[in-house]
Amino acid sequence: MTAPAPLLEANPAAVERDILAAYESVSSFDADGTGAEADAPHEEFAALRRLGGVHRSTLQQVLTGANGPGGTSISTWHVVSFAAAERVLRDESTFSSSAYDDSMGRVIGRSFLQMDHQEHRTWRSILHSGFNQQAVLARRDRVRSAVVSRLGSLAGRGGGDLVRDVAFPVALTTIAELVGFPPGTRIGTLYAWAVGLLDDADGKIGTSVRECLETPSAWAPDSLVGLLLRSGNPAVGAGPDLLPAVRLLLSTGTEPPFRSLATLMYAVLTDREVLRLLREDDSSAPGVVQECWRWECPLTWVLRRCTAETEISGQPVGRGELVCVNLASANRDETRWSRPARFDAGRELPGLAMGTGPHTCLGRHLAMVESRELLAELLATESTWPPGYTVNTDGVAGRGFRSPRRLRIRF
Ligand code: HEM
Repeated sequence: MTAPAPLLEANPAAVERDILAAYESVSSFDADGTGAEADAPHEEFAALRRLGGVHRSTLQQVLTGANGPGGTSISTWHVVSFAAAERVLRDESTFSSSAYDDSMGRVIGRSFLQMDHQEHRTWRSILHSGFNQQAVLARRDRVRSAVVSRLGSLAGRGGGDLVRDVAFPVALTTIAELVGFPPGTRIGTLYAWAVGLLDDADGKIGTSVRECLETPSAWAPDSLVGLLLRSGNPAVGAGPDLLPAVRLLLSTGTEPPFRSLATLMYAVLTDREVLRLLREDDSSAPGVVQECWRWECPLTWVLRRCTAETEISGQPVGRGELVCVNLASANRDETRWSRPARFDAGRELPGLAMGTGPHTCLGRHLAMVESRELLAELLATESTWPPGYTVNTDGVAGRGFRSPRRLRIRF
């Protein structure tokens, strides 16, 4: 497929600049208070857990940690314990994902993230063959070469920012390719548009993507769009009907994984115990990744809307009420893990970073492949860095999305 203007930018250097510009928009979002406010929310969540598994709150209180003038007073339940979070996410009959209609849905349109039951299952079953373990393992070499070239280029430049120069571009290029966009596409622009960070006032980007979607033969059969276009399933629709799904895939396939890759590098480079474990025990990598996801869950909240009178942790919850499930808090529930604030790759019980139930993260195997390839290459490269290298970081930060904002390495 050749992407139409304004998506085409065949020159690789210009595509790189485009990716960098997208990362700058994400950084500005993080810095404007929406993404980074209350950088240490874990104490607040722990205090809530001591009082109970679920709390009546407002969206503003949950999302920012404060109730101030001018904020939204939309009432919501804030689920903070592991048991309550798991229960809500596994019961789609009582807790509907249509809750996203007023948030993600407003930005990207109605995608399968907002659907329940059979309608949702139809999309998942078509996309399964692009996301299952075998399919993503087949892409391992592509992911590895992206990691190798990006990590490798740092040495020649005397260093760089591992978040900006490695984590973000690896996640974005991987998902853009899997969705089916060819090399030379301005994937930074596409991503910023997909998540609503770029105002497509004249509608040119949306129109270009629609044009691409109207040409099914242009998409590789094993790409995600290729699978959807060739499914022939009337419930999925054709061409432009796939626009919200494309935006969802670019968004979910970039934001949480780039943040988790950044946190993983942070853990390895700032905790000598983690580095030692990985070097001494080849089989420890999956446990390190799982623990990284539990310890600093990249995506804090997922939403549900209650469809019937029910209760959560003994609290009566009414039909139509909004429920914010706090995965970062559930992942530090001290009734499930001892010393949950500690990074311990030997833990056996998994966390909820990838959700659970019918909407369990579709990209979890891909995220594991990205993490493992990055770990393997980071270990190999780190041993070639001059011993006096320095890592400059403020640590893992943020409230809704958590990750190191910078991880600057100097040789
Ligand atoms: C460490 C990285 C990742 C984390 C922490 C993460 C987290 C999550 C969570 C918590 C959900 C559940 C949302 C809900 O229940 O409402 C989810 C769903 C989803 N994730 Fe991921 N994700 C990651 C990587 C990826 C990747 C690489 C992709 C690739 C496209 C992806 C695609 C999706 C999609 C499409 C859904 C919606 C599934 C559905 O509604 O059925 N994710 N993810």
